[in-house]
Order: sequence, then structure tokens, then C-alpha cells
Amino acid sequence: MSDLTIEVHLGPDDRRVALERDVREGLTRRPKSLPPVWFYDERGSRLFDEITRLPEYYPTRAEREILVRHAAEIVRTAGVSTLVELGSGTSEKTRLLLDAMAEADLLGSFVPFDVSEEVLTAAAVAIGSAYGCRVHAVVGDFHRHLAAIPDADDGRLVAFLGSTIGNLDPAQRRRFLFDLDAAMTRDDRLLLGTDLVKDVDRLVAAYDDPSGVTAAFNRNVLAVLNAELRGDLRPDAFDHVAFWDDDNAWIEMRLRARQAHSARLAALDLDVDFAQGEELHTEISSKFRPEQVSAELHDAGFVVEGTWTDPDGDFLLTLARPYC
Ligand SMILES: C[S@@+](CC[C@H](N)C(=O)[O-])C[C@H]1O[C@@H](n2cnc3c(N)ncnc32)[C@H](O)[C@@H]1O
Repeated sequence: MSDLTIEVHLGPDDRRVALERDVREGLTRRPKSLPPVWFYDERGSRLFDEITRLPEYYPTRAEREILVRHAAEIVRTAGVSTLVELGSGTSEKTRLLLDAMAEADLLGSFVPFDVSEEVLTAAAVAIGSAYGCRVHAVVGDFHRHLAAIPDADDGRLVAFLGSTIGNLDPAQRRRFLFDLDAAMTRDDRLLLGTDLVKDVDRLVAAYDDPSGVTAAFNRNVLAVLNAELRGDLRPDAFDHVAFWDDDNAWIEMRLRARQAHSARLAALDLDVDFAQGEELHTEISSKFRPEQVSAELHDAGFVVEGTWTDPDGDFLLTLARPYC
């Protein structure tokens, strides 16, 4: 019988306030935009999981490959018995870290942290029963609730995998890393997963698969708005757009209105007009160079202790510690 706690910092009311604010601001500005956090209702999380299994979507396989080869060394270097995972989702790859910690007789607690309560709870229950360790799940927003990560006497390994950090723009990324550094102690370690710059065709294919799963994931944000804000947005009235922005070194996803039309979000008493061809910005996915990752970590107060890539050099895992 495992020891399971689920701590909710993002209850239905907070979620609602944040959603209303983001939608009102995002759909009344030009260009229109929505933050990627709203992709992840239960269906959005399921679709993301499907994306990770697509042949075109190499990042999950590449990061998994690194963990298969190097998880033992990573957990040995970190030397702590608590694993925290930010933006944990289903925590599938994380099992490789948990296996390595168990193997090294280090596994005490697991702290998954995500906005999506359903997926987080399912993962927390599954991992608690598979590993028999203490599980303290936190439903929260990693931009606001890092202080909610429980303390641990011998330090924590804070994993932020899947290149989720690439969904933050450079200013958000910088603030996030500073906040994370401030929330960590000298015994803690950060394990950061970042997708690396590579051939543009491969990058674009990973975000625009022929089977249309990424398009369904992108359009799902409209279904979330409809369900939560009594909306009549029509996901099928938008094309999925994914392109490489070379100046910013990121893949950008947008939804492009096929025709001029209006939609209503009754809960906000908000009517939204879309011109033909107008684009709603939904996600960026920044790609990194290894020296840039080290430099950004250093600026935010971290010292890099180790880096690992997969054999094809597609993805990077960096282990770092706060320098004070
Ligand atoms: C790109 S997925 C990565 C999932 C998993 N870590 C992986 O590597 O496959 C991003 C995850 O972060 C969560 N997420 C997105 N924005 C978040 C936020 N502001 N606070 C907490 N979790 C967030 C999503 O619910 C989702 O599970």
C-alpha cells in the first residue's frame, strides 16, 4: 500500500480566473494568442501522449534513449532520494529515473507536479502502486506555485523533461529559471530536457504529422474554451499551421481561420471576430544549442554538473545545481 497525497493549488476557481483572464486578453489583442497551458484538459493530455508515439515526433524517443543509457549515472550524481517532476503529464519516461533510483536504493518520494489534475492523479496512483514509494502530487502552475514543492532533508532532483521549457518565450524562460533557482536549496539538482536545433524539415514534420494528431491537439484548445466558457468556436473552421521561425529558433503553431466568421464565448459575454486567414498563436517550441542552455542556466544561478545527448545528437539532458 503506497502513501499518496494530492495537494491542489490550482482549484476550479483559480483555474477559472486564470482561464478567463488569458482568454479575454488573448482573444482581444492582435495578433490573437492563447498560452499553451490551455491545451491540457484530459483529451489534450491524451492527444499529447499520442503525439509522443508518432514516427515524426523524435523528441520523446531521443530523451527516452538518453535516460535508458544514462539514468543510473544521473541519479548517482544527483544522490538524492526525492524526485520532483514539473509538467509531469503521464510520467512515462520518468519511470526510467524511478527505476534507476530504486536500483541504487535511493527512491524515497516522487512529487509529480502538473496543471492537469486528472492525468496527474492517474499517474500518481499508478506510480505509487508500481514502486511502493511515497507520492506527493501537486496540482499547480509552475509559473506560480513552485513554493508548493515539498521540502526534502537530503535534497531533491527536480526533473523538467520533454523540452516543455521550450514552450516559454525567452523572457518567461528567464523568469522561470530564476524562480526555480530561488525555490531550490544547495542540495537540490535540476535535470532539464531540451530539444536541440536540427534540420528544419525534421523539425516541421514533428509538429505537422500527416495523420493529423498534432492538428487535433492544436484545435483542442478551442474545444477547451467551448466547454469551459460556453463557447461556439468551430475547431473545423481553422487550419493547423506549424512553421520554423529561424530568427527566434522556434517552431510556432497557429490556428488559421479558413473564412471570416465570429464566435461567442457566452460565459465572458465576449464576441470574437476572425478575418479570413487570421491566425491565432497557440504555441512556440524553442530549439536550443547546448552552449545556450548552459549559459541560460548560469545566468539564472545554476552550475552545470553534467550533460548527455542521444546518439543522433537530437536532444540534451543537463544536470545542474544552484550555485549558492
Ligand atoms: C509538453 S508536455 C510534457 C509532458 C511530459 N513531461 C513529457 O516529457 O512527455 C507538457 C506538460 O506540462 C504541463 N503543463 C503545461 N503548462 C504548465 C504549467 N504552467 N504548470 C504546470 N504544468 C504545466 C502539461 O499539462 C503537460 O503535462
